[in-house]
Amino acid sequence: MSERVVKMIDEEDIDERIAEIAGKINEEFEGESVFIVCVLRGAVFFATELAKRITVPVKIDFIQASSYGSSTVSSGDIKIVKDIEMSVKGENVIIVEDVIDTGYTLAKLKEIFSHRHTKCVKLCSLLDKPDRREMEVDMDYIGFSIPDKFVVGYGLDYDQKYRNLPYIGIVEFD
Ligand code: IMP
Ligand code: MG
Repeated sequence: MSERVVKMIDEEDIDERIAEIAGKINEEFEGESVFIVCVLRGAVFFATELAKRITVPVKIDFIQASSYGSSTVSSGDIKIVKDIEMSVKGENVIIVEDVIDTGYTLAKLKEIFSHRHTKCVKLCSLLDKPDRREMEVDMDYIGFSIPDKFVVGYGLDYDQKYRNLPYIGIVEFD
């Protein structure tokens, strides 16, 4: 089976939106600092672009979650396969994800960090697919709400491909 990628959100619009989210974070945490927890691997491009636009002190660490089940549908059974290495005690944690789909991953991460004596835990995702939600999750920062389509680029992959595209595109199968 072969696939094509059709552009949905271009790089300029993504950059502009990231600057707006960073602006909100800068206002909200003025005089404080933030601790970005980047969810590997998809959120790497977004998290670094966001961090570059944050003007309060930023720490960054990485976590990797996996859900067992078929490859394109979350099973809801979320496991941490790589945890962060730094302490988040007393920190304003912002969990940064590429896309919120069923909601299981971010719900689980929020639950895990709520036990880690942080000052607060915020949830941030570049993309949101509200039609796919199975678990209610209170999001703090969203880049773009998108329809129920499989998308790639700006960190998101299909079978580990297309993460390096500078835009978000919809995967279409021939
Ligand atoms: P959730 O637990 O269902 O919210 O899963 C979110 C995860 O599913 C993301 O971190 C992605 O790894 C993956 N995912 C969901 N939709 C897409 C998509 O359209 N493209 C690429 N990955 C996706
Ligand atoms: Mg992911």
